[in-house]
Amino acid sequence: MTKSLNIAVIGLGFIGLPLSLSYARKGANVVGIDVSEPLIRDINQGISHHLEYFEGKSLADILKDQLAAGRFKATTSYEEAASQVNNYIITVGIPVKNGDPEMRYLTAACESLVGVLKKGDTVILRSTVIPGSTEDLVKPLLEKSGLKAGEDFYLAYASERIAEGRAFEEFINMPLAMGGINEESAKRAHEVLTFVTEAEVTISDIKVVETSKVIENVQRDVNIAMVQQFARFAEKAGIDTFELIRVANTHKRVNLLTPGPGVGGYCLPNALYYLLPKAKEIGVNLDLLETARQINDSVPRILVNMVGEKLSEAGKTLAGSKVAVLGLAMKDFSNDDRISPPHHLVQLLEEAGAHVAAYDPAVPARYPYKVDSLGDAVSGADALIYVTVQEEFLEIDWDEVLGKMNQNPVLVDGKNRIPRSISEKAVLIRI
Ligand SMILES: NC(=O)c1ccc[n+]([C@@H]2O[C@H](COP(=O)([O-])OP(=O)(O)OC[C@H]3O[C@@H](n4cnc5c(N)ncnc54)[C@H](O)[C@@H]3O)[C@@H](O)[C@H]2O)c1
Repeated sequence: MTKSLNIAVIGLGFIGLPLSLSYARKGANVVGIDVSEPLIRDINQGISHHLEYFEGKSLADILKDQLAAGRFKATTSYEEAASQVNNYIITVGIPVKNGDPEMRYLTAACESLVGVLKKGDTVILRSTVIPGSTEDLVKPLLEKSGLKAGEDFYLAYASERIAEGRAFEEFINMPLAMGGINEESAKRAHEVLTFVTEAEVTISDIKVVETSKVIENVQRDVNIAMVQQFARFAEKAGIDTFELIRVANTHKRVNLLTPGPGVGGYCLPNALYYLLPKAKEIGVNLDLLETARQINDSVPRILVNMVGEKLSEAGKTLAGSKVAVLGLAMKDFSNDDRISPPHHLVQLLEEAGAHVAAYDPAVPARYPYKVDSLGDAVSGADALIYVTVQEEFLEIDWDEVLGKMNQNPVLVDGKNRIPRSISEKAVLIRI
């Protein structure tokens, strides 16, 4: 028997767009809501820069298929969506500015939803939030409709655990954690969520699920910070960091992540700041977590210092040198450059007086220091810092790159991808 479902996804970003299309692929009638008019225009024309693939198709191809099948459309109008659906999933973000979480997108989404909410609707918050947000912020905002949560409409929280680049597959196969504000809310949300999710669903208290999501991210931040320190130790001790981690991870209960140019994206760097307000309120010390954040934030500075040292050994100075930065995305094979360490790296290099030419074929945003080809980035460069892998970089002919760079080049390999043989012709640092 084919199931049917009418659903609106609020916020059509890295999560909301592939989530909408996952519902549409399974036969739901989906309306995507976003406040960005240019985004809605692009989406309705089948345009998207997101690098997601599923069963051999790109996100843009899946989008075009679902638009053509009439199972998905995007709008800025909550009214238009409400006339067609009884279920909502909210996926707007909570950005962090100078350590402070900004609730205004979530608040605005709830304020728009409250105007169109109907008796019997189900609302599922799927954003990563400050623990307590569903019951303390979203519920009272939605109850301004005059409808009572748990009786007139149903309210639940489900954390989002997918990794960008694997969204379609993980919406189906990633185990899900969720909680409802009462049993009926949990039951209805479970039905909506398992329309797409085929993996195990854990039902718990909402605050537990909200907090669990945040600490799932924080533990990765701390693991990476620990590995950064192992990497600094290994460098000075003359040990290969990647080999060290590879060997340690052969232990069945050890799972070290890989060091890199820092920790970026929307999820990991923000997680601590979702916990801190509550920790301060209840007088709990989270200094290990804060130190981990500082360690990860300091990696671009360490890279800049390394490059400066090696250039001066070659009789050059960072000031006045050209530095090529390969990759601006916050992780490999991604177009997402939010809170991306390479931008921090560029900023520090420029502050030191270097001329930076950064190249990332997957990132659509434009920046003064971004160039349009690998050749433009490396021609006449004194140093190169490889920070994010993209498909095009897998084909790099490193001898050709060296041929275009200045004499005595310095190469920093943040990805363990530059052949070691290069060290016969250039200074090669692996981090
Ligand atoms: N990106 C990831 O890999 C990932 C993974 C797990 C969880 N999450 C969480 O999922 C949530 C969404 O993340 P994202 O990366 O998709 O964010 P995003 O910034 O890519 O998307 C959010 C979208 O919401 C829209 N929006 C803002 N205010 C709105 C409103 N009032 N009404 C309708 N739309 C509105 C924005 O225009 C934007 O398109 C965040 O809480 C994030 O922490 C993200």
